[in-house]
Amino acid sequence: MNHTYYQDDIVEKVRSSSDIVEVIGRYVKLQKKGSSYFGLCPFHNEKSPSFSVSQQKQMYYCFGCQAGGNVFTFLMEYENLSFPEAIKMLAERAGIELPEVEYSEEAKRAKDRRSKLMEVNREAAKYFYYQLRSPQGQKGLDYFRSRQLTEETMKQFGLGFSNVTSDDLVKYLKSKGYEDDLIMEAGLASFDERYGFHDKFWNRVMFPIQDVSNKVIGFGGRVMGDGKPKYLNSPETPIFDKSRNLYGLNFARSSRSKYVILCEGYMDVIAMHQAGFNMAVASLGTAFTAGQANLLRRYAEEVILAYDSDEAGTKAALRAIEILNEVDLPGRVLSLEPFKDPDEFIKNRGKDAFLERINSARNSFFFELDVLSRNYDLEDPESKTRFHKEIAKKICSFNEEVKRDNYIEAVCDKYGIGPEALRKLISSYAMKTGDATPVERPRSGIVSKNAEGEGKKNVQRLFLTWMAEEPRLYAAVKKYVSPDDFTEEIFRKVATELFRQIDDDCINPAAIISMFGDEESQRSAASVFNARLESVNSRQEKEKAFHDILYSLKKNSYDYYSSKLGSDVDALKQVIDGKKALEEINKIHITLEED
Ligand code: UTP
Ligand code: MN
Repeated sequence: MNHTYYQDDIVEKVRSSSDIVEVIGRYVKLQKKGSSYFGLCPFHNEKSPSFSVSQQKQMYYCFGCQAGGNVFTFLMEYENLSFPEAIKMLAERAGIELPEVEYSEEAKRAKDRRSKLMEVNREAAKYFYYQLRSPQGQKGLDYFRSRQLTEETMKQFGLGFSNVTSDDLVKYLKSKGYEDDLIMEAGLASFDERYGFHDKFWNRVMFPIQDVSNKVIGFGGRVMGDGKPKYLNSPETPIFDKSRNLYGLNFARSSRSKYVILCEGYMDVIAMHQAGFNMAVASLGTAFTAGQANLLRRYAEEVILAYDSDEAGTKAALRAIEILNEVDLPGRVLSLEPFKDPDEFIKNRGKDAFLERINSARNSFFFELDVLSRNYDLEDPESKTRFHKEIAKKICSFNEEVKRDNYIEAVCDKYGIGPEALRKLISSYAMKTGDATPVERPRSGIVSKNAEGEGKKNVQRLFLTWMAEEPRLYAAVKKYVSPDDFTEEIFRKVATELFRQIDDDCINPAAIISMFGDEESQRSAASVFNARLESVNSRQEKEKAFHDILYSLKKNSYDYYSSKLGSDVDALKQVIDGKKALEEINKIHITLEED
């Protein structure tokens, strides 16, 4: 298997010279319990330790947030390093000399481009920062002061100013040796007939946007006075993905608060942080996305929405609630009345009053109902009935019975509805739509748009977990199963390597994980070795469970290749062999020997 940057043997050498317990122990306080070490998970907030590190497997796993991987994954996640950076860091510590990096031409170009973009952004941020503190930036400084920001806050957020002159940044960057097309790609300049090649931002106070590891990836600039647009933002670039970053998250991630406050504006985030609410974040001039919600899930158990109190803000809040529901992150909505946004609220009422509003923030479901109720005249029986039906419809979408019951009770109290009547409405609604047991809500639009696909993936993962836990079984099944049965690319790679290791009698999960260069894949690969097999009691049950998994794996693979007949030349052999294997599997009995 070949890496983009380093050969496998050198990667493995670095890994095996870096004991995971020792490395993680420098970041997390670990205590030995049984065969593993435990500590407070650094990837989510928790009070009791569910983060485990296994010396034997050289892997870590959190039972709370499912973060997991080997020593490289840990550094990638914790220090926000790339895979090669993590290797470099550990190699240095272990005194291992790395060979000159062998980038593929394409990888090299992409990497160089990204770091160039980061560099030019940092240079621009420094320039804006310096302008704000020089005579030509006085206007900007006065502006921030008028908005009651302290010097310290301005410094923390790296605030800056872009001059009235419309090409000074471009000139400056060129004097530093940056090329036009790079400056353009970074979104710092534009070209038009009238002004030629010129600064994108001018006469604006500047908000550098940082990623979680404090690298400047873009800018927001607010106009001085009433010009349009009020805020101008950098376009998306190879380093600026607006749907996967949040303003303020670089600070909020270490707040150790149970909740994050999500708002709309840069100024709101800054005002909240200045008032001590350092868990505040904002989306980036765009609507809140599922990617951002998933990101927040890593840092918080709950999201407090502090959106503007006008109609647009309310609409945006409703949309954000839907997205939070999709990823199963509870939300509450904070009322800012009679003020427009968190910044104005704090300016007028102070931080204590704001904290009270946080504490009394409403459950997002009731917020939705409240907004909904505005469309109905509750004095009119017809209209009121329609409203109640809408409530029934909403409650019907909860998939847990306890949850439905609790909401029925609460809603009835609040809106003076008889619980029996509401229950009837709910069941008649459920019958009408044909789902008496309501449909399962997908956890996230992306992951499980296709539940069947998820199931097949699970079978592949589970089978590999069995192999890792009970390697002796491999001998009994190897004539039926090959890596080609794993249609998920990650699991196929894991299978190839794991089967080889079992044959050689040297299982090494941590080495398998480092075959993958990105965090997401490492996490998937690690899930094979972290998963627990269902605690089935008797040996017979266990044997049956394994037999079922084996059969499903083979059946899925058979179906897969059957659907490829005609378009894939290798499919026919797979189908014929698969059919035979399925028949045989049906007849065999697999025995788990007692230890
Ligand atoms: P608001 O218009 O609510 O601004 O936009 P604000 O934060 O209250 O700003 P101040 O207090 O008047 O300075 C909220 C957010 O929406 C995005 C920006 O990210 C802003 O912070 N926005 C707004 C834009 O991207 N472009 C605009 O023209 C306006
Ligand atoms: Mn505002």
